[in-house]
Amino acid sequence: MNLFTKAAGLLVLTASLTQAQPAPTHVVRVNVAQPVADIQPTMWGVFFEDINFGADGGIYAELVKNRSFEFFKPLMGWTVRGKKRTEGDILVQNRSEAGSTQTSSNPRYIRVTANGANSGDLEMINEGFRGMGLKNGLRYDFALMYRVQSGNVKIHADLINAQGQPIGSGTLLPEKSDGQWHKQQVSFKSAATEPKGKLNVWFEGTGVVDLDMISLFPEDTWKGRPGGMRADMIQMLADMKPGFVRFPGGCIVEGHDLTQRYQWKKTLGAPEDRQLVINRWNFEFGHRPAPDYFQTFGLGFLEYFQLCEDIGAEPLPILNCGMACQFNTAELVPMDQLDPYVQDAIDLIEFANADVNTKWGKVRADLGHPKPFNLKMMGVGNENWGPQYIERLAVFQKAIKANYPNFRLVCSSGTDPDGERFDFLNGKLRAMNADLIDEHYYRRPEWFLQNVKRYDTYPRNGAKIFAGEWAAQSDKTVSINNKNNWLCALNEAAFMTGLERNAAVVQMASYAPLFANADAWQWTPDLIWVDNLRVYGTPNYFVQKLYSLHKGTHVLSMTQNNEALAGQDSLYASAAWDKATSEIILKVANVSDKAQVRQIQLDGTKKLDANGKLFLLKNDNLNAVNSFENATNVSPVEQAIAVDVKKKNVTMTLGPKSFSVVRIKATM
Ligand code: AHR
Repeated sequence: MNLFTKAAGLLVLTASLTQAQPAPTHVVRVNVAQPVADIQPTMWGVFFEDINFGADGGIYAELVKNRSFEFFKPLMGWTVRGKKRTEGDILVQNRSEAGSTQTSSNPRYIRVTANGANSGDLEMINEGFRGMGLKNGLRYDFALMYRVQSGNVKIHADLINAQGQPIGSGTLLPEKSDGQWHKQQVSFKSAATEPKGKLNVWFEGTGVVDLDMISLFPEDTWKGRPGGMRADMIQMLADMKPGFVRFPGGCIVEGHDLTQRYQWKKTLGAPEDRQLVINRWNFEFGHRPAPDYFQTFGLGFLEYFQLCEDIGAEPLPILNCGMACQFNTAELVPMDQLDPYVQDAIDLIEFANADVNTKWGKVRADLGHPKPFNLKMMGVGNENWGPQYIERLAVFQKAIKANYPNFRLVCSSGTDPDGERFDFLNGKLRAMNADLIDEHYYRRPEWFLQNVKRYDTYPRNGAKIFAGEWAAQSDKTVSINNKNNWLCALNEAAFMTGLERNAAVVQMASYAPLFANADAWQWTPDLIWVDNLRVYGTPNYFVQKLYSLHKGTHVLSMTQNNEALAGQDSLYASAAWDKATSEIILKVANVSDKAQVRQIQLDGTKKLDANGKLFLLKNDNLNAVNSFENATNVSPVEQAIAVDVKKKNVTMTLGPKSFSVVRIKATM
């Protein structure tokens, strides 16, 4: 009988496998002695974009929506109510209009006038990002900026549950009344767990006070950093040990128009000085409108670099190339006005890498990170295409290479992996010695099987490939019916054998998009789904994680009848050597609905360990999905697998619709 125990998130099969194995129908040979290519440490990474409420309402742990009243509708997200409301008791004011010298990056604030107010008289309820996830016993930090105009107004902050009952509260009495802006904070605990909580800010006393940046953060952020990231979401990334993090997108880099493009310099420093911008996913899809979607940049480039450092991933920032989204306005920066864009790229390298005595190195140090981030690459443009892209890219390439000859640039091959736009860009990029070409494929699941040999014929010299955005679409691109089902994940697993087999050419790959808020998404499928309190990985997540955790350092040839196993009998396979652990790693996807047995001959080894490990991901139902309630419905099970040390082989029984990863210790 099999005995399962739970260990490190995996089911571990601890009993020995004594049942008789069916006879293998074919021999598959792995040449362990002669690796065919290096596998880059960056091979498997993640793509992060503020889409689907991925940053605001996602990894950025801020619970208050529209904390600075800068949304188009200044009180969006807030409900003002109370028994003693009078005309003008909550007014939206604008510093720039008042001719103030205050920064214009956050011009609006509110002026509160209280007249002998008490509980229930004057309240402002913030609804959070589709509610606030509150946890029993957890500390919450309520903070704001205030400026006392007159009198004494106490500010109360109540956490309230879905029924409107308080489940935690704190009080602030503004300390200074010198007519200047000040920050103040109070911390308190929640007495209950509530997935759809809200924040009630209410006023007591008589007076006039100005308020801005009304904020609520949980204590349990990633690494306990105040104002930081949602730890459960970041843990999902850390668990994958990704080789790189691509940020901040995606189309968000381009912007609907150039005013809305992502500008990294505006994302540094005090949160109140980071100018909010509408999120392009706010209005991109008529069928998924999100009128309350804005980018506060509470998470900016420093935080993204820090995240990469925390989880041991290479940072891969993507910068605007002087072109807005070509599906939207397609605005172009005239060539004679491109310099500031190029300068942004050069300054970013200095910000990330340079000595603290340089201009941008000092900015980094002043922000609390004197140690360089060792940035090695950046993308110029996201899904940009046409001669206009090539013309602009050439200017970036020349300027960056002149200053940093070894710095690598990721270049766009457009929106699709084939067709006129792709062919044009592919030719041009190779002619201009591009370092890395970014290919995107949002395609039907069968495309991934049909294209498993895509890179077999790519030139080994010259440009390398970054499979920068891709995911199998169970319906079609941008359809709301796309599912993160096992069919898509299994076909992706099969396709990835082709990426690994061609690691000589493919140096990086990332599924996209990464996160989706289940109550506020625009695009599906997505790797990881969250609500206010929960998070789950899709079957696709577990495929990505298996590849990333079992990456290896060198590609090995794995053949049946002298041919790569790339679809024969519906099997797809690749093999790697892990120099660090002296292990052979085998990956086999069986996309058929019948079990198949293969004897895998491990040629060229001196000695093999008799006890291999098998990580098995399978489900009989290709429509199977994971969910908040059943987060591990499709997830890997760890088992023992016996190795024939005398014959130097391992017999793999490949169940129907399964993906198997095997690790075997070997001496060479
Ligand atoms: O991943 C979602 C979007 O798909 C990205 O923003 C864009 O680059 C692509 O079209």
